[in-house]
Amino acid sequence: MTQPAQQKAFYLTTPIYYVNDAPHIGHAYTTVAGDVMTRWHRAAGENVWFLTGTDEHGQKVLRTAEANGLAPQKWADKLVTDAWLPVLDVIDAANDDFIRTTQDRHMARVQRFLSSLKAAGHIYEGSYEGPYCVGCEEFKLAGDLITDDSGAQCCPIHSKPVEQVSETNWFFRLSAFTDQLIAHYEANPGAIRPESAYNEVMSFLRSGLQDLSISRSTFDWGIPVPWDQSQVVYVWFDALLNYATAVGLGDEPGTPGAEKFAQTWPADVHLVGKDILRFHAIIWPAMLMAADLPLPGCVFAHGWLLVGGEKMSKSKLTGISPQSIVDLVGSDAFRYYFLRAIIFGQDGSFSWEDLVARYTSELANGLGNLASRVQAMVGKYFDGLLPAPGTYTEADLAIQNLLITTTKNTDHAIRDFDFQTGIVAVKEFIDAVNLYVTEQQPWVIAKGEDAASQERLATILYTICESLRAIAALYQPIMPKSMATLWTEIGAEASGASHLISDIATWGQLKPGVGIIKGESMFPRIEEPETI
Ligand code: ME8
Ligand code: MG
Repeated sequence: MTQPAQQKAFYLTTPIYYVNDAPHIGHAYTTVAGDVMTRWHRAAGENVWFLTGTDEHGQKVLRTAEANGLAPQKWADKLVTDAWLPVLDVIDAANDDFIRTTQDRHMARVQRFLSSLKAAGHIYEGSYEGPYCVGCEEFKLAGDLITDDSGAQCCPIHSKPVEQVSETNWFFRLSAFTDQLIAHYEANPGAIRPESAYNEVMSFLRSGLQDLSISRSTFDWGIPVPWDQSQVVYVWFDALLNYATAVGLGDEPGTPGAEKFAQTWPADVHLVGKDILRFHAIIWPAMLMAADLPLPGCVFAHGWLLVGGEKMSKSKLTGISPQSIVDLVGSDAFRYYFLRAIIFGQDGSFSWEDLVARYTSELANGLGNLASRVQAMVGKYFDGLLPAPGTYTEADLAIQNLLITTTKNTDHAIRDFDFQTGIVAVKEFIDAVNLYVTEQQPWVIAKGEDAASQERLATILYTICESLRAIAALYQPIMPKSMATLWTEIGAEASGASHLISDIATWGQLKPGVGIIKGESMFPRIEEPETI
């Protein structure tokens, strides 16, 4: 019996974050971008799977746990419960799953995967000697390092001296996949984005790859190598597999795991920061090639949030907590701000001044004001009930036409990871509607008591309300809380209007006669914080 094949999910992942400390806005930035992208695809009616989680093994986490006087599992449990799960609520992320690398489901599948690679001849015993950065959990090449004032060789990301590692380990034949990787990326230039990331990976690949040590014997905080209990799996080999173990990697046909895997794999997007691009664009696809598994659609490496020109970092204790920003402007404005202010793929500096300035001009004045003005006017002139529109004039039709191009442009930009252009397109639509209100002067027309004036007034107010119905749908993936409120207040819920992206530009979904509610201000004015 053949089952109808279920549509493959749009599957997007964030990195799984190290539990060496609590999240800062850099981690929240990646998760928010992933959340907006997946909410967008859901709003397009697609089947979606959104995964995030935590990376809990390895020396970096072990050392932090020891420094805090706790066993590593206790430390990881505490940080996940107290910090990493709560931050998802703080930023309003709607992830479908949360994987922890210390979970049995992950560890068992990693061991099985490793055994199958060994059986297929991709793993051998060898010895490694060279520099290692515990901050990156990465074996470094001499050319990767910088020299500090005291002459020590340092990691350029963590600005800390690297350590010399000399061990007998298990190795993965990474070098054997060099040509296959180059051929794959030549055929699929969109598989690494943005272009700068693509170019970086290609030049690295063309310089040739070395085999990779994938186990460690000098500490035991990790997944035991199944055939050699004296070694634990190298933390990156363990961590990268999360994307596949979370959806049932290697499970027997007919099991729920196998079904999940068939519905989700390959991932469409691995969203990462540029710090971990090479792991995702080189090691990970080589592991998949070794196992004959399909490769992810795209690795997108976004830029860094900077502090004083350097990457904001847990290790350097330069993090700003997401909660501190959300306390000031709310989760919606947090989400809006970072995707609006920084071109996705480039670095950006966070500033409280810029946050408050954009919040005030774009959200409180631009969008918030438009909503409260029309809600007040429908209240005053039509007892709070949406009037039916009369004949549309050119000015009204111009708004309807602008909505069609806005929806198209926003959809295109956001699917293409250009969040800023997508948001700006909606903002320009809001500006156009505000200008329309100013030019049409409904408060002047309201003074005319004749039928023609009343009809014109009704048409103007209906046009503004319909525009807000569309804005609420367009901004819903970016600002889910306030847009859900706007959707209800503007009568879209009561009208049974469609949330689907493909229906947004269909004019006339609000039913005349529905109640238009004047609620609390969506983006209340804020006092400037003392940090400014
Ligand atoms: O690398 N700006 O975890 P991690 C922007 N466990 N994004 C930032 C950022 C900043 N200043 N700082 C962190 C690891 N990020 C591994 C990943 S995946 C199989 C294993 C974000 O806790 C960004 O997404 O160091 C970056 O790549 C990630 O957090 C690194 O988090
Ligand atoms: Mg890091």
